[in-house]
Amino acid sequence: MTQQTLTIIKPDSVENHNTGKIIAHLENEGFRILAGRMVHLTEAQARAFYAVHKERPFYNDLVAYMTSGPVWPLALERKDAVTYLRQVMGATNPSDADAGTIRSLYGESIERNSIHGSDSPENAAIEISFFFAASELV
Ligand code: CMP
Repeated sequence: MTQQTLTIIKPDSVENHNTGKIIAHLENEGFRILAGRMVHLTEAQARAFYAVHKERPFYNDLVAYMTSGPVWPLALERKDAVTYLRQVMGATNPSDADAGTIRSLYGESIERNSIHGSDSPENAAIEISFFFAASELV
């Protein structure tokens, strides 16, 4: 089933000049880009985006990290996009990620892990609408 998901190319990837390589990797895996832009998140935006993690011990560090430099949110479309993106990304901690996955190729640590991906179709819809109006998905 064709599905939509959201990825965010994180500050470490932008800093390390890996944005283009990650977008090429996603396109090679059959994702179609519906929308994308570079944005430097405010603290309020990062707190709201990651609100589901607000009780976690790493929440403040995560917010500080995600506002430390520009990121690229991208809305993506593909068959089984949510599950497939999670496979292509690899495990949250790059040291646990399978060889050839984006996090294994480009991630540096559990925080600087190169890319975010929605964890369910429900959250994908919420996360896409966080960054893009329906009219911007083309
Ligand atoms: P992401 O997929 O963007 O969703 C939440 C993020 O929290 C996760 O990637 C990690 O980069 C980050 N994070 C930082 N520390 C931890 C931790 N100890 N456990 C899980 N996620 C963490």
